[in-house]
Order: sequence, then structure tokens, then C-alpha cells
Amino acid sequence: MSKYIFSTHLFHSPRRIICFKRPKQTQSAVWRLRSVSCHTGPQVVSQRRGDTKNQVTKERKKEKSSCQPVLEHFDQQYSQELGDLWTSARAVLLDPHSWQYGVMLNRFSAVTGITQILQSQGFSTLLPQTDASTLLCNGPSTVSDSKYRAERDSLLPPDYVSSCPPNGSHLQPDSTSPALGQDLQSEPSLSLPRPTLQCYIHPYTLRFPSQPHRPGQLKQYYLLNAASLLPVLALGVSDGEKVLDLCSAPGGKALAVMQCATPALLCCNEPDPHRRDWLAKTLESFLPQPLISRVIVSAQDGRSFGQSEAGTYDKVLVDAPCSNDRSWLYSGSSQQGEQRLKERARLPALQAQLLRSALSAVRPGGVVVYSTCTLSSSENYAVVETVLDECPEAEPEDLWEEIAIPLSKYFTFNPAHPGQGQTPCKPSLQPQNGTYHRRLGILVVPQLGKTWGPMFLSRIRRRK
Ligand SMILES: C[S@@+](CC[C@H](N)C(=O)[O-])C[C@H]1O[C@@H](n2cnc3c(N)ncnc32)[C@H](O)[C@@H]1O
Repeated sequence: MSKYIFSTHLFHSPRRIICFKRPKQTQSAVWRLRSVSCHTGPQVVSQRRGDTKNQVTKERKKEKSSCQPVLEHFDQQYSQELGDLWTSARAVLLDPHSWQYGVMLNRFSAVTGITQILQSQGFSTLLPQTDASTLLCNGPSTVSDSKYRAERDSLLPPDYVSSCPPNGSHLQPDSTSPALGQDLQSEPSLSLPRPTLQCYIHPYTLRFPSQPHRPGQLKQYYLLNAASLLPVLALGVSDGEKVLDLCSAPGGKALAVMQCATPALLCCNEPDPHRRDWLAKTLESFLPQPLISRVIVSAQDGRSFGQSEAGTYDKVLVDAPCSNDRSWLYSGSSQQGEQRLKERARLPALQAQLLRSALSAVRPGGVVVYSTCTLSSSENYAVVETVLDECPEAEPEDLWEEIAIPLSKYFTFNPAHPGQGQTPCKPSLQPQNGTYHRRLGILVVPQLGKTWGPMFLSRIRRRK
């Protein structure tokens, strides 16, 4: 039974202030939570010196367990929708050894030591840093070598530490990767407001170890697929805004929102009770006491949120339940795979309902970001298009110029129209019935060396 205690309801809806009482979290509990993570897929250890034969064998077994019916279905659909891009995306999705992991720092904890370790291992920041983030996160920017080593040794598991020479020289370049190291030296020229959010990425497949629960201390970082940050960047939350995260568990994007700004209110909604517990644990592991009053956890069906809280929020994120290509490929038995494919057909209707609800919950002039972690155009462009067709007051905004172009050295965006395979052009729809030009969203497609994604995002402004 959950050890969390939730306080009394706020407003009329079944949502509650989260209580940050810290439960005991065993290592196995941590493992269970991680192993079902939406955006991380199966657990993989990094390719580094010291991998034992057993570990390698286990990893090979995992590779073999990709689910044939799901793979066949993806092959059929995505080769049509993505053309050649699918061939390389497929290779990434089928090879967990090639996957990269982002490390999002927690600005509410002291991260000097972690920053030093990451940099010494060859990680670099995905986004430009602000002075504010440096002040909040890093404190003094230099530490002595011995202090750094002592801090590193106290922060990281012994097996990781023993495999790390100070200069990170054990890292083996992935021969299939393009020369990303050079790219990572220069910062992207983002036109977005510079966020206090800091995410470190590595050009190769090194996986930073997960941080265990430390009683009484906030976690210093969160491992994630770096493409998961793009919907949060697109949302562009400012201090003092009211934000709704309609489909919130396990809470990675909610945490990212809190790294970017200090909203007046962040409502994290999750109807599934187990996932809601997981969400509450994530929030309590990363957010300090003074922010508790600004974060509430709600348990509604997201489809009814728009009715119960119409016009309430400045920003709404709909990170919708979706096919989740990365994890679905490892569905286990063929039977489970077939079952999921049946569910798949029902997802666009649910996603459209959630997006409609979000557009009702946002205030006039406010913004909704819709995102998924599937490549499927019927869960992405088609959902957005369906809802926009019904809502003349909703207007899609161009993320291509704002996000895809500035971040194209880190992420591969699908340059083609949905359904047009290899035809390269901007992902805006052609005029429909001669009346509209619409830009429905951008799609991150995993590629070797840039294995982030799948991630689709679309931003819609409610005009009135
Ligand atoms: C892709 S996951 C969200 C991931 C999360 N935003 C993050 O970054 O950690 C989608 C979530 O939507 C939840 N969900 C499913 N049906 C829902 C509904 N009708 N209303 C709201 N959320 C729903 C699922 O339980 C799941 O936790």
C-alpha cells in the first residue's frame, strides 16, 4: 500500500496537494519504476570497460526479445510514412546499445560535483545556460581536482567510479556515429527564452548511473530521453503562470517545467493510481518544500478536465498516452504485441479527446502543447488536424523555425510531409481546400549518433 498521505481536496475536482513525506524506497522498487518508464525503454548499461560476459549475454537476450508482430506492423507503416528515415530509425530502436541518455540536473539541489563529473566524462550541455541557472545550480564554478574526485566518489556507485579515469578516456567512439563531438562544442542559437533547465548529453552511448533515493536529500539529476524536453521548451512556461500537465506520470516533463520556471501553480494530473504514486514520488524526490504549495496532483480523467476547469490555465501540456514505439517493440510475447496493436487503433480517438479537453482548459490567448513518443502519423499530425478542424479558435504555431532548426545538430527532425516518405520539404500541410496553411507539428526521429526520440510535438494557441 502506498505510504503517501494526500491532504484534502482543493476545488471541486479529485485533486490533492501532494504530501512530501518520504517513503522507504527499496532498490528493487527503484528498478521496477525505471523498467516501465515511458520514454526510456528497456534498461541498458553503457558500453564501457568492465562489462562482464554475463552482462553482455543478458543484453543480447534483451535484443532478441523484440516483438515480431509489432516490428512487422511498424515496418509496414513507417516505411510508408518515413521512407529511408525509417531504415535508420529501425536500426536504433532495435539496438538498445546505441541509445543515448540525457541527464537533466535538478536546480533545487547542489550539483557542482555532478557537473564536474559529467564534463570530465565528455558530457556537454544541450541548452545554453543562464547566469541564473549557474548561480542556482552550480555555486562556485571550479573545484580542486582532489575535491572533485572525493565528491565524485561519494556521489556515484563504486563500480562506475572504478571504471572512470579522470579524463573520461575510456569512452570508445561509436564507429557508426557521425562526428558529433565537434557539434557539441558549439551552442545552438535558440530563439527561445534561455531556460534555467540544464540537460547534459553525450555523443556516444555512455549511460550515467541512476541516482538512488537518499533520505532527506533531493536527487541531483533525472535520466531521460533528451527529446522529452522539447515539448516543455515549446510550452515556454514563465514565472507566475498556471500550468496543467494533463497526463503527468511519471513526471519527467513536470520536473522539467519546474526547472524552467516557477509557476504560480503546476497541476499534475494522472488518473492511473499506480502511476500517480510514481509521479508523487518523482516530485517529492526532486522538489523542495517551498514549492509544495505550488504543485498539486490531480486524479481526473483528462478528457473531462476541460469541462471542470474551463479557461483556467495559461499553459497546458498534453503528453498523451500513445503507442510508445521504443517500449512496444519489446512487448514480450507475440500475443501481448498483437493486443497492443489492437489498442493502437483506439488511441487517436482518446488523444483527440484529451487535446480537445486541453483546449477548453486553457484560457483565451493561452497555449497547449500536444506530444507523443510515437512516430505514427495517425497519433500525431492526424490527431492535431482533426481537432483543429473542429476548433476555429485554435491556431497551430510554427515549431520548425523555433525549435527544429536551432536544435537540428542534436536531433533529427523528419523533413517530410506525413505520408510522403522521402520527399524532403517542411512539415507544414499544403493548403487545404485552398484556405489554410497549417503547421501541425515536428517529429524527432531516432538516428545513429542522435538516438533521441521518437517525439512528436505540436503547439496550439487558443485565440479566444
Ligand atoms: C506518455 S505518459 C506521460 C509521461 C509524462 N508526461 C512524463 O513526462 O513523465 C502518458 C500518461 O497518460 C496517462 N493517461 C492515460 N489515459 C489518460 C486519461 N484519460 N487522462 C489523463 N491521463 C491519461 C497514462 O496513465 C500515462 O501515465
